[in-house]
Amino acid sequence: PKALILAGGFGSRLRPLTFSKPKPLVELLNKPMLLHQLEAISKLGVKKIVLAVSNFGETLQTFIKQFNQQNGTVEVIVSKEDYPLGTAGPIKLAEKHLKGDDPIFIVNSDIICEFPLKELLDFHIKKQSTVTILGFKVENPSRYGVIIPDKEGLVQRFVEKPQTFVGNLINTGVVVVNPRLLELIPENKFCSLEREIYPKLVGQQCIYCFQKGSFWIDLGIPADYILGAQLYMNYLRNTNKDERNETLNKLQQKFLKSNIIENETIEKETQQQQQQSNSKIIGNVIVPQKENSFKIGKGCILGPNVVLGSNVTIGEGCRIFNSTILENVTIGNHTLIEGSVVGWKSKIGNWVQIRNNSVLGLDVTVRDNCILNSVSICPNKSINTSIWEKTVIL
Ligand code: GDD
Ligand code: MG
Repeated sequence: PKALILAGGFGSRLRPLTFSKPKPLVELLNKPMLLHQLEAISKLGVKKIVLAVSNFGETLQTFIKQFNQQNGTVEVIVSKEDYPLGTAGPIKLAEKHLKGDDPIFIVNSDIICEFPLKELLDFHIKKQSTVTILGFKVENPSRYGVIIPDKEGLVQRFVEKPQTFVGNLINTGVVVVNPRLLELIPENKFCSLEREIYPKLVGQQCIYCFQKGSFWIDLGIPADYILGAQLYMNYLRNTNKDERNETLNKLQQKFLKSNIIENETIEKETQQQQQQSNSKIIGNVIVPQKENSFKIGKGCILGPNVVLGSNVTIGEGCRIFNSTILENVTIGNHTLIEGSVVGWKSKIGNWVQIRNNSVLGLDVTVRDNCILNSVSICPNKSINTSIWEKTVIL
């Protein structure tokens, strides 16, 4: 198969993080979002992956260059639009890379799931479908494309962002298409798969939906990014159970109900650190792979659902849960962080509380004793008073 990843758009809903990094490069579990997709697609033996972008800055360019140098088997080809072409236009623009007989995966760059691509492809081929969408049931479908299939999976209706309830099976943004789809997309023109192409295919009875997977989330808004990290960690914990149980047992000899998801060296190191510092780990905690690339002070309790980026330094007596601390962050003593994201290079003082879907951008300073509740803070800001209500600090 071939593949194209849709990575345009401005990521404005994921500000303030996307002020400093393009959305596909914002790290989820210490790995750029885009890398999760690239790895899942590479596993299927895809040789070339088209990355469809509308704004292609230096950071993304550097990332792709490095990726291509490090991966012998798969090559990422960048296809850049002069102006945004939507979700279908970029597929046409990359036609020269995609035409032929191979089925093509089209994947949104801002979602995370188990990527059951092999099963999706098998179903697609069996049905001789033109488009096969990976579907997932969600509680609040209004922000997505809703699919109504029959028992065989043949789609009867597709409604993008329905205003009223039509169903709760949604388009995950992971689809596989037959190359004949290329003929349906106009050239050099903004075109939406969801609003223009899929409804047309419904009429022609050649669009199917396939359902599989235990979790899926669109990472495009902060609350879902935070939730997505938790779901993904739980998924990791529940797969590779044998491996993980072994790890768990080892850790449990020393720490009650502890578990860290990472490779063995880190577990050893963290054990040592924990022993020295009598800090405690609860449930899912992810730490960087490189040894000595993070520090945890005495008497901290971390977890569940914590991700620490590299070079994170945490002082004494901190409590952190359901949060991602990105690279190079420094946190003082007795600070609480809950359900939040702390941006790269931020400096958090002592006795600070950051909670309830707060998101700090790059290089934010929070002075001692401040309490931040549901606050978004733009890069390079310095905060010296508490903020109790949902606020954006520009
Ligand atoms: N190259 C390119 N050019 N990519 C684009 C453009 C563009 O003009 N516009 C959006 N994209 C990319 C985004 O980067 C993202 O990866 C994907 O296309 C979807 O765009 P979003 O803006 O995130 O759309 P959405 O989340 O509101 O809705 C889409 O995704 C849902 C699942 O998360 C739709 O496909 C829905 O049907 C779907 O349910
Ligand atoms: Mg999205």
